[in-house]
Amino acid sequence: KRIVILISGRGSNMEAIVEACAAQAWPARISAVISNRADAAGLDYAAARGIATSAVEHRAYPDRERFDAALAEAIDQHAPDLVVLAGFMRILTAGFVQRYAGRLLNIHPSLLPAFTGLHTHRRAIEAGCKLAGATVHYVTAELDHGPIVAQAAVPVLPDDTEQTLAARVLASEHRLYPMAVRWAVEGALRIEANGVVRQRDGA
Ligand code: GRF
Repeated sequence: KRIVILISGRGSNMEAIVEACAAQAWPARISAVISNRADAAGLDYAAARGIATSAVEHRAYPDRERFDAALAEAIDQHAPDLVVLAGFMRILTAGFVQRYAGRLLNIHPSLLPAFTGLHTHRRAIEAGCKLAGATVHYVTAELDHGPIVAQAAVPVLPDDTEQTLAARVLASEHRLYPMAVRWAVEGALRIEANGVVRQRDGA
């Protein structure tokens, strides 16, 4: 199986996936890491690991449709079975999402369906939540609403700031996302008609 990972910055989730793929000998390889920012730190890590990298700079395109078309072209050069969004900070058009339906995963730093969108950690603290976490989900046209694949919960501690909570959630993301991507490449996931994801029997 071929995996393309999309990033926008640091790329620590991408790193965790690259490392797990190698260490656990997945039946898959990371074919490319693509960023919407040429200066994304994660591109250097990927290149150093011998992975093909490219940048499709969103600022170079007049609108989302044309950016998404260029992005899809860059992705499709690698003919991926799975496209993994890892800290990819652009909203994708319905057409793009449809093109990769059932093979496009994202990680969101909240326990969905709570706290879609930005500033999830600050909002969880402000709401007095005692648990926070991360969610891996299939991407659909509605932002942060696709079928949920896996979740990890962490405590919100009394003295947490946005930063300390973000760090605790991120550590959980680094365990959760490689596990979920592995399930996907192993064909262990099935999306039921009602949108609920189940592990295939015997997988
Ligand atoms: C992660 O917390 C991810 O859930 C969020 O942005 C962060 C990306 O971090 N959407 P990294 O680029 O994977 O280090």
